[in-house]
Amino acid sequence: MDSQLIKKTAQAIMASQRVVALTGAGISVESGIPDFRGPAGLWEKYDPMEYATIDAFLENPQKVWMMLREMGSIVGKAKPNPAHYALSKLEKMKLLNAVITQNIDNLHQASGSKCVIEFHGNNSKLVCLKCNRSYESRDVPLETLPPRCQCSGVLKPDVVFFGEGIPLDAHLAAQEEARKCNLMLVIGTSAVVSPACDLPVIAKGSGAKIVEVNLEETQLTRHTSDWILKGSASRILQAILEEIVEDEAKIRSR
Ligand code: APR
Repeated sequence: MDSQLIKKTAQAIMASQRVVALTGAGISVESGIPDFRGPAGLWEKYDPMEYATIDAFLENPQKVWMMLREMGSIVGKAKPNPAHYALSKLEKMKLLNAVITQNIDNLHQASGSKCVIEFHGNNSKLVCLKCNRSYESRDVPLETLPPRCQCSGVLKPDVVFFGEGIPLDAHLAAQEEARKCNLMLVIGTSAVVSPACDLPVIAKGSGAKIVEVNLEETQLTRHTSDWILKGSASRILQAILEEIVEDEAKIRSR
């Protein structure tokens, strides 16, 4: 872990008026949830064309629900990791305005983050495709698939499948945060899925600094990011938080 870059990032956070984080599946890998495109990613096991598009779901909801049930049991057991806690601590210190997340695992809220913009929805709700009634996922048994509404309609997780639009309120809120921020932390995302991956470009275009936290470079690294902190999100974000807490203590003791 590059301690100079940790210091530089901590200073950039403290010097910025408005900081926003954009997170992807990589921030939850250390909570036990596989990412999608990494070596042990979900799309290595399940073809996204057969399991992650809205057409595939409508054509064979039972088949897609087999994958959803497996993922749901992993997500259900997952707890926030130090990366999630660091972001919620920065929000409490008024050093982070919002988290825009592509994740549906609810771990940012579980770690205490209040302003979370869920770009791809949230796994904790199911919605009936027929009558639009919504249910808490935890209240719906999954012995028989697909789960059905009392009206007999098929229930779908309230998440965005490929081929569906981003929830309008989340889309507009995320674009506004990207336009207004002075610093965007892009954490644990391969930045290949639009329109989420357009947000760092919007932020950059509005004059913001872009800092990536990732195990490896992405397509943002060369053209959009100002620098990249290479390594695990939990260790890096914990180190940035410690740096900030130390600096603030020094300022207070002057
Ligand atoms: N620390 C930091 N980065 C990590 C870690 C970690 N411990 N583990 C993995 N990563 C990085 C990987 O290097 C990769 O760049 O996280 C990124 C995960 O990328 P993806 O698996 O593509 O996940 P994401 O970018 O969130 O995917 C976007 O695609 O399938 C859709 O809807 C799904 O929201 C998802 C979207």
